Amino acid sequence: MRKPVIGANWKMNRGTPKEALEMIQDFKSNIKKTTSVDIIIFPPYTVLNTIFNTVKKTQIKVGAQNMYFEEKGAFTGEISPIFLKNIGCEYVILGHSERRDIFQETDEIINKKLKKALFISLNPIVCIGEHLEKREAGKTKEIILNQFMNTFKDLTKEEIRKTIIAYEPIWAIGTGKTATPEQAEEIHHYIRELLENNYDRDTAQSVRIQYGGSIKPNNAEDLFRKENIDGGLVGGASLQAESLFEIVKAAQATLK
Ligand code: PGA
Repeated sequence: MRKPVIGANWKMNRGTPKEALEMIQDFKSNIKKTTSVDIIIFPPYTVLNTIFNTVKKTQIKVGAQNMYFEEKGAFTGEISPIFLKNIGCEYVILGHSERRDIFQETDEIINKKLKKALFISLNPIVCIGEHLEKREAGKTKEIILNQFMNTFKDLTKEEIRKTIIAYEPIWAIGTGKTATPEQAEEIHHYIRELLENNYDRDTAQSVRIQYGGSIKPNNAEDLFRKENIDGGLVGGASLQAESLFEIVKAAQATLK
């Protein structure tokens, strides 16, 4: 049985200690009794330390929204995965579609980052997903196959088992247009097939595949109830303590 995992991707929001604390203290007091769902907050770098210190003794984990593939040196403006680990990050999001589209990150760059994250034991969540025109042209699986083969290139079985995959159809991110549970499940099932074909059945069954794209308290449970959907990566709805808590509860409900 795979443990559901909920990631709260704050993107470039709540970046001052005051804004971050406002949310995380409320959320923390709500979450006390939930134990069987993994919860990870991905705040801006500026408040990673604030969040880490606030959630230290709870089940809530902290992650970064990005990292560079080198550990140190002359890379102005980049962030080292070692620095992230040292301030308490256990997770990192790699290859988010906003990184791919706005900052031109390629599968090759994401693959390098992924290998580095795994090398230093920072748990990666790797995003893949198609644009609307590709879906409308019937090319979703082709895009997913390409991203899968290139982003996870040369990953060992042990490495892929430590990786969380996030299927995030780009047309559903921040648009309020969620994929239906059936649309999402079809691709999650396909990703699991790719895992089985490239590794083995056991590995395919153990890797967690999150859904991302306009998850809200009112659609979360239907998505999480699908066989191959193991929680979600939440953007907009993760900025408020109450809605994130409702989404965690939806994941929890699927366990009963
Ligand atoms: P959204 O973002 O929930 O605001 O659609 C999801 C994501 O980008 O991970």
